[in-house]
Amino acid sequence: MTGTVAPDPMSTPTVGLIDPDAELVAVLGTPGGRADPYPHYARMREHAPVFCSAMGNWVLTRFADCQQVLRAPQFGKGPDQDATARARLARWGVPAEEAEDFFEFFQRRQSMLTLNPPDHTRLRGLVARAFTPNTVESLRPHVAALCDGLLDTMAELADGGRSVDVMRELAFPLPVAVIGELLGVPVEDRAQFQALVRAATAILEPMSDLEELRAARAARLSMEQYFADLVGDRRRHPADDLLSELVAVSDGSDRLTEDEVISTAILLFAAGFETTTNLIGNGLFALLSHPEQLARLRSSAQDPGSVQRAVEELLRWDSPVQLDGRVALRATVVAGQDIAPGEQVMTLLGAANRDPRRFRHPDVLDLGRDEGAPLSFGSGIHYCLGAALARLEGQVCFGRLLTRFEEVELGDGGITHRDTITLRGLARLPVTLTPS
Ligand code: HEM
Repeated sequence: MTGTVAPDPMSTPTVGLIDPDAELVAVLGTPGGRADPYPHYARMREHAPVFCSAMGNWVLTRFADCQQVLRAPQFGKGPDQDATARARLARWGVPAEEAEDFFEFFQRRQSMLTLNPPDHTRLRGLVARAFTPNTVESLRPHVAALCDGLLDTMAELADGGRSVDVMRELAFPLPVAVIGELLGVPVEDRAQFQALVRAATAILEPMSDLEELRAARAARLSMEQYFADLVGDRRRHPADDLLSELVAVSDGSDRLTEDEVISTAILLFAAGFETTTNLIGNGLFALLSHPEQLARLRSSAQDPGSVQRAVEELLRWDSPVQLDGRVALRATVVAGQDIAPGEQVMTLLGAANRDPRRFRHPDVLDLGRDEGAPLSFGSGIHYCLGAALARLEGQVCFGRLLTRFEEVELGDGGITHRDTITLRGLARLPVTLTPS
């Protein structure tokens, strides 16, 4: 662990009439703020676009500032990113030894997501060609067939006006099937990963408590064991899947270690469905809450360009990833603020996507909007590797759903938001369906 120079929270003035820390805490730590973070984001963005939080990190909410940090070589990934979590554990009185042991565990488990060049470049380069727009586009008919199969089941379940949970029947199983097949995870093993990935991603949530972090560690160990066995299997019996390709690369040269194969497989599998599940859930909920936009998409569901723009707008409107961040590798200035090496910066992507400096009338859902990509997939060298795949899944899913069902309406019982903010999504989205 290198030394972290935490900025002094007391030195940050409360700007204007708001207390930016209270707004941040509302978003990160209250059910109301998590259900609707956007008014809180707006107050931070307008009155305190850069401030140092009581947690000791800088917080950014404007599009240009967030993009600058995600792209600039002065920022990167690093063990210092754990400093916030360390400070939190210390505040809770967690014994230093346990905290240290915990962080060591996670620091040993690096993937491209947590590494800087040159390791990042090497790991990303090895799998990047499986996710190029052209390779991904060739999957479209197959993704559509998978989606149609799930819609068939939904039609049966919805018979007689019964509510069907979209999260359970479509938003989770579609992305998990797509990435599961690409990677080569047997169909019967996939369902167990929802709980494991959810437990493991507690490490990404700023408010996770010690029990959740312990569960994250246990889940990570289970996934490692699972993928170690699967890698062993592919080494003995290579198949036509990405995991076998990774194994071949690691056997063929010294460019990928066994641990790196396992970490890459876990990253691809976890990132491949958890976020896309939330694109489908958040996106459909946005449509159901804006019937005029739903009708607009329905009327143009056969036009690929319209569906593409719609998915881009749904990604902007309620981003499945709300929070990203970097650590300063060198002294730099962001939004007029000096940032010292080792200091951490939190970029609130959901806030940046509603920045009126970047998008006209950002609080209006407008499926015809054509103003360029939001920050939902990040930016710079860690820009989402699976962006083309996620977009394709979203396009197929909304297009097929609206073609297949003449009416889709909110069902009984209402929605529930998950208790998370980095990965924002719904636990439940009941709908009723009328076949076309
Ligand atoms: C709507 C769905 C998705 C969203 C919103 C999303 C969002 C993101 C974001 C914001 C990052 C950047 C993280 C950072 O800056 O540190 C990222 C990275 C990544 N995503 Fe996605 N993602 C989605 C789907 C997928 C899918 C389907 C895959 C499947 C392969 C995937 C694989 C990855 C990988 C491997 C990285 C790490 C890239 C790197 O560090 O170079 N994502 N994603």
